[in-house]
Amino acid sequence: MKQVRNRNPYWDLMILAEEPSALLRYWQQGTLWSFAHRDSCRAVALMMDYVRDPQSIIELKLLAVGAKWRGQGIGRHFIQELALRYSALGYVQMVVGTANCSVGNLAFYQKAGMRMRWIEADYFVADHGYSEPIVENGIEGRDKVWFDMRLTPKGRD
Ligand SMILES: CC(C)(COP(=O)(O)OP(=O)(O)OC[C@H]1O[C@@H](n2cnc3c(N)ncnc32)[C@H](O)[C@@H]1OP(=O)(O)O)[C@@H](O)C(=O)NCCC(=O)NCCS
Repeated sequence: MKQVRNRNPYWDLMILAEEPSALLRYWQQGTLWSFAHRDSCRAVALMMDYVRDPQSIIELKLLAVGAKWRGQGIGRHFIQELALRYSALGYVQMVVGTANCSVGNLAFYQKAGMRMRWIEADYFVADHGYSEPIVENGIEGRDKVWFDMRLTPKGRD
């Protein structure tokens, strides 16, 4: 994986994981990583210091694997690589939040080694950039479900 400086070419990949109106608020912040194979970018991850404890907690703010590359273990591998990298930087925990209606993501993050920790109720509202209702799997997206992973020198527990 490598760090990206000019983010413009990655916008289309990033909006696979976030509503454009919300993404616009933070897409130039934090550190953007790309995961490439044979010079073709297959996935991106945006990492930001977690606002409530920026010294020791890193937030996986966004993760997107290109549609044709999904289901091959890239997402899980990317999370393992990020865990290694950020543990080496001294972070002790990695967190990620996703919508209650994103049933596939709730499964994926658990399979990638993360634990469900807490719920931020009524997150998906206009104040956070979600002007239109989000609906997936016939469920309205209202609450943010937070996951975490403890980081150790080997990457994770
Ligand atoms: C969610 C996402 C990152 C998963 O990436 P991926 O590379 O396809 O996932 P992996 O191949 O590493 O999957 C790891 C495991 O999770 C499972 N998994 C992945 N996506 C899943 C889904 N939507 N539903 C159920 N299980 C899923 C895989 O089947 C695999 O399980 P296995 O070990 O039993 O085979 C990818 O689908 C994606 O980019 N989606 C669109 C953007 C998005 O929603 N991002 C997350 C929110 S920020």
